[in-house]
Amino acid sequence: MSLDGKTALVTGGSRGIGRAVCLRLAAMGCTVWVNYVSNPSAADETVQLIEEKGGIGRSIGFDVADGGSVQKAVKHITSESGGPDILVNNAGITRDGLMARMKETDWDLVLDTNLKGAFLCSKAVMRAMMKKRWGRIINISSVIGFLGNGGQVNYGAAKAGMIGLTKSMARELAPRQVTVNSVAPGYIVTDMTSSLPEDIQETIRAQIPLGTLGTPEDVAGCVAFLALPESGYLTGQTLHVNGGMYMGN
Ligand SMILES: NC(=O)c1ccc[n+]([C@@H]2O[C@H](COP(=O)([O-])OP(=O)(O)OC[C@H]3O[C@@H](n4cnc5c(N)ncnc54)[C@H](OP(=O)(O)O)[C@@H]3O)[C@@H](O)[C@H]2O)c1
Repeated sequence: MSLDGKTALVTGGSRGIGRAVCLRLAAMGCTVWVNYVSNPSAADETVQLIEEKGGIGRSIGFDVADGGSVQKAVKHITSESGGPDILVNNAGITRDGLMARMKETDWDLVLDTNLKGAFLCSKAVMRAMMKKRWGRIINISSVIGFLGNGGQVNYGAAKAGMIGLTKSMARELAPRQVTVNSVAPGYIVTDMTSSLPEDIQETIRAQIPLGTLGTPEDVAGCVAFLALPESGYLTGQTLHVNGGMYMGN
């Protein structure tokens, strides 16, 4: 169960779920590129945590929604460590609000970061993966893309869109042995959810059969599984990691 010699790029690896994914992949032998957009010190901390455990990590700042920056970053990674074998499209944001009052800019920002960002990063790495006839693209969606949520029409649309993106990319890349899958977390304890008021967190907890919010490590375990060479016959799928709050597919 090793990823020795592989290179991974994790977008939004500076904090939360992305950081846990970076640590997990590095522990499996990968060289991990930790992406951030605004928080270089958090990305450096992720790299430090990787190195403390004997792994190899590098940080790289770029905005996943900016095609030119994405291309430049992937070129740099490729010249330093070879083209990424594993891409985790994890960078994501929320800009919540009821639709009647939602600003067009908040729609655009959420769609651009969560959905277009995954498209741009995948497009930048796929050629090298296809050439090697090996690759893993893992998109971090959300339970909200399946259940919907009042106040999150932008986020719900972006996360549901990532499932369509995953399935179509999986079909395009399958002939070259590149797999594309999604992980759809439920409510996970990170900066993204810590700002939710305690009464809302209690209401959420009541909807989770396993009774607690998840941890970033719960999600990282699913990502690690999909990245393994042994998971090569799995493509176009979604792993739901949500404590049982949504069991469909
Ligand atoms: N937490 C949950 O309950 C939950 C549930 C379902 C799905 N998810 C999804 O899981 C992913 C990670 O969530 P999280 O809770 O770990 O979030 P988080 O703690 O808020 O961290 C977000 C990460 O994304 C990065 N980022 C944001 N915009 C970016 C951009 N334009 N370009 C590059 N990086 C960018 C941030 O970088 P900086 O540090 O530089 O700001 C940070 O590393 C997201 O896609 C989220 O939608 C989360």
